[in-house]
Amino acid sequence: MTAASIDALPSPATFRAPGAGLSGTVAVPGDKSISHRALMFSALAVGRSRVEGLLEGEDVLSTAAALRAMGAKIERDEAGVWRIDGVGVGGLLQPETALDMGNSGTSTRLLMGLLASHDLTATFIGDASLSKRPMGRVTEPLSLMGAEFTTAPGGRLPLTMRGAVPAVPIEYRLPVASAQVKSAVLLAGLNTPGITRVIEPEATRDHSERMLAGFGAELSVERDADGARVISIRGEAELRPQHIVVPGDPSSAAFPIVAALIVPGSDITITGVGMNETRTGLIKLLQAMGARIELLNARDAGGEPVADIRVRASTLNAVENDPPEVPSMVDEFPIAFIAAALAKGRSVFRGLEELRVKESDRIAVMAAGLRQIGAIVEETPDGLIIEGTGGEPLEGGGPVATHLDHRIAMSFAVAGLVSYHGVTIDDMRPVATSFPGFVGLLEALQQK
Ligand code: S3P
Repeated sequence: MTAASIDALPSPATFRAPGAGLSGTVAVPGDKSISHRALMFSALAVGRSRVEGLLEGEDVLSTAAALRAMGAKIERDEAGVWRIDGVGVGGLLQPETALDMGNSGTSTRLLMGLLASHDLTATFIGDASLSKRPMGRVTEPLSLMGAEFTTAPGGRLPLTMRGAVPAVPIEYRLPVASAQVKSAVLLAGLNTPGITRVIEPEATRDHSERMLAGFGAELSVERDADGARVISIRGEAELRPQHIVVPGDPSSAAFPIVAALIVPGSDITITGVGMNETRTGLIKLLQAMGARIELLNARDAGGEPVADIRVRASTLNAVENDPPEVPSMVDEFPIAFIAAALAKGRSVFRGLEELRVKESDRIAVMAAGLRQIGAIVEETPDGLIIEGTGGEPLEGGGPVATHLDHRIAMSFAVAGLVSYHGVTIDDMRPVATSFPGFVGLLEALQQK
């Protein structure tokens, strides 16, 4: 069976302990954050860009469909390379129908920013999960720039935006540590006269800054007296087309990494994973727990650091996370909780309020699922306290409810590999948003 056909298996699905350790060398799909940005910036460049290794997950395909609906030409050739003919900064056209963002918060928030300084009106719609997520964090700064919004109650989707031309440049201090909000303001700044500035007290992923500079935007990053990052972009930019090679997504690699750590006897290698230090918090946390993780063959790919990761089964000890490090592993807490559930001792996770507004409330949903499969967990307002088994398998059970959240589904699939009775997951379909081939990859690691 191919990876795609395995992923198409009907839900619910049960994941069980393999008879032996995981082994082999695998690659994970392209980075989701970088893939969205590669399409968006290419669509605004003058001329043809090429993107290799693009994540072909539903979230990124939502971005591609929206950009096409506004005039960009986006095609995939037989070799899997994507070709994007951009329309130039400010050149996107009025879409004829609502832009369907599916499950993707990144598509929604970054495109809202991009369109906020365009002369058009756009309506954004999404699935039940996305329609619950807060958009006020983006509509607030974009309103200051002159865009106008009508939203569903609570500032949520469906939402209609009227862009401002010319938009007004602002200096905006981020009230939440969010790369999506930072990027939305910077993208609005691309077609705004003058300098738009974002002040970021806690560093978040910097893919927008790196890639915009690569496309030729005039962008600078400085530190202010308090150590906050100050990012300035000069508007009315002209972007030059690029050839981008997307690294493997560290947030997807997180699942096989933890699987290999907790399944006894495992020794695996994951090749070509992005190692941008704004994304490597999980690896540091796992190493602090005693994980045997080696970074090999460190290199640079298209302006981003990349390495191969060798992971061997390890005896893990409990850990307490460092709240300032949360942005560097913000998507990895669900799988970190699984590692903690198998570690020796009591792990304490704090400062995770943002997890409550991800694709699901990841604190509540993980606490419920972990209890269902036999873990001892206490939920706090901003985190979880987990009493680990010390390596003893979890009881198992389910079906665990994933609430349209891909990372919940994949985290519990990994938990099933170290359980007495297997873990059943109610719905595996959300996995296709970020990690097509996930089930096939887990199976490949189990083949001797
Ligand atoms: C992302 C930023 C993060 C992350 C999301 C992708 C991005 O969201 O959770 O999966 O590509 O900028 P926040 O900005 O809401 O923290």
